[in-house]
Amino acid sequence: MAEPEKPAETSVKAAPAPPAAAAKPAAKPKKDAEKPADLRRSLIWACIWGYLGVNFLMFLRFFFPRALFEPKTVFSIGFPSDFGLGVETKFQRDYRIWVVRNPERLFVIYARCTHLGCTPDWKQTEQKFKCPCHGSGYDSEGVNFEGPAPRPMDRAHVEIDATGQIIVDTNRLYVRDLKAGRDEFSNAGAFLNA
Ligand code: FES
Repeated sequence: MAEPEKPAETSVKAAPAPPAAAAKPAAKPKKDAEKPADLRRSLIWACIWGYLGVNFLMFLRFFFPRALFEPKTVFSIGFPSDFGLGVETKFQRDYRIWVVRNPERLFVIYARCTHLGCTPDWKQTEQKFKCPCHGSGYDSEGVNFEGPAPRPMDRAHVEIDATGQIIVDTNRLYVRDLKAGRDEFSNAGAFLNA
């Protein structure tokens, strides 16, 4: 009797189990996936700290207000006898005025162009005020004669104080605007008798 055939031995051996260390690289993609989340978290914190920082600086700013030094609007310019005939420009930088004396009157021109508000320059050789912005020209009494300025420059209030000095008030201006039917250059306070 023939012996039952033994099952043939398989020549294929089971593949060796991968070493434990070899399984580790599989975890790497997981770490990479966490990177965008970390980045997002960092950005959120940066925004929060930025927001808090800006608010803190704004809070501190209350303790350091920006001081704006406006020129005085009421001030003394000396005695009438201090001024000769013509245009005195020495108060322009501090007070934005010129003092003018003619044979009849002493008055103060507020140095603001009536076109768009620039400060004209006094041109001694040409005996005129010239606006550097758009070329308006004014004669030695501040009356416009060329360029786009629509009317003469305004005059500031003047009066004599108890000591005999001239007090100027640039908050009180006298206007000549003939198109509007307004002429205040002869009002009391617009000039002093020379
Ligand atoms: S502002 Fe003086 S001419 Fe325009």
